Amino acid sequence: MERGGNMISKKLSDSINDQINAELYSAYLYLSVRAYFESKGFCGFGSWMGVQFQEETSHAMKFFDYLVERGGKVELKEIKEPTKSWDSPLAAFEAAYAHEKYITGRINAMVDLAMEEKDHATVSFLRWYVDEQVEEESSVSAIVDKLKYGQGSPGVELMLDKELSGRIFSPAVKEN
Ligand SMILES: [Fe+2]
Ligand SMILES: [Fe+2]
Repeated sequence: MERGGNMISKKLSDSINDQINAELYSAYLYLSVRAYFESKGFCGFGSWMGVQFQEETSHAMKFFDYLVERGGKVELKEIKEPTKSWDSPLAAFEAAYAHEKYITGRINAMVDLAMEEKDHATVSFLRWYVDEQVEEESSVSAIVDKLKYGQGSPGVELMLDKELSGRIFSPAVKEN
C-alpha cells in the first residue's frame, strides 16, 4: 500500500503505542476483577467485567488498526501485572472507576497532542474515544453509587449481581 504525506508523526505514533498498552492493561485489570468476582461467587459482576475485558481489547485493536492505516509502526510493550484482590465489590468497582478517570485523562492528553500537531485525522479519530470515556465513566460510577447506597448489604450486592449478569458485548461498528 502507498504511504503518502499523511503519515503519522513519531510523537503521535508513540502516544498511540502507549495507549494500545494502556487499553490492553485495562483489559487485563478487568479480567483480574472478573477472576476476583468469580472466586467470591459474584458471577454477574464477573460476567460484566468479562464484557469490559472484551471492550478494552477492542479499544486496543481500534488504535492498532488506525496506526497501521496511518503508516505508523505498532510496537507492543510489556503489560504490567494487575491487582488481584479487593476488599469488597464496592472497592473493586471504585478501582475500575478510578482507572477509567485515568484513561480519560490520557485520551484528553492525546487529543491535545494531535491538536498541537494539527493532525486533524487523529483529532477526528480520537473523538470516538472521548465519547466512549463519558459512557465508561458514567456506567461504572452508577454501579459505585448503587453499591454505596446499599452500604455493603448482601441483599443489594446480590440483586445488583443478578442485574449486571445480563450485559452483552456488542462490538463497535466501523463507520468507514
Ligand atoms: Fe478503553
Ligand atoms: Fe474503559
